Amino acid sequence: MAIRNIVKDGDPVLRKICRSVISFDEKLATLIDDMLDTMYEANGVGLAAPQVGILRRICVIDVGNGPIELVNPAIISEEGEQIGDEGCLSIPGQSGLVKRPLRVKVKAQDRNGKTFEVSGEGLLARAFCHEIDHLNGILYKDKVIRG
Ligand code: NI
Repeated sequence: MAIRNIVKDGDPVLRKICRSVISFDEKLATLIDDMLDTMYEANGVGLAAPQVGILRRICVIDVGNGPIELVNPAIISEEGEQIGDEGCLSIPGQSGLVKRPLRVKVKAQDRNGKTFEVSGEGLLARAFCHEIDHLNGILYKDKVIRG
């Protein structure tokens, strides 16, 4: 396990569309472990692969209830809305108000390729949306309604 460098806003890698993971191998496991280490070391609640320079559809989240690893995630349903403050490890020292769904359900694969579904509400729903946006080259600041 290792801490990786977090790419900062302005780096074009953050604006690319990530490709799906097709190999569920040791390299993927190492990347996910490193992403978790990097997220915890930076005191973040989420981290997406492009933030460590990898253009693959992978993100990790921990809003305080343990790590969630998402490979090839997709939001399959959402309801309600919430407006709240959001930040990003790639945009240090800043935050802004973003409108997100209150509840989302995500379908993803784990590091072994097994498909699962996970639901989130509040901060967890926000984290799912924020991290999955990263996989499509979208940053929270694109959606800020008030900085
Ligand atoms: Ni972010």
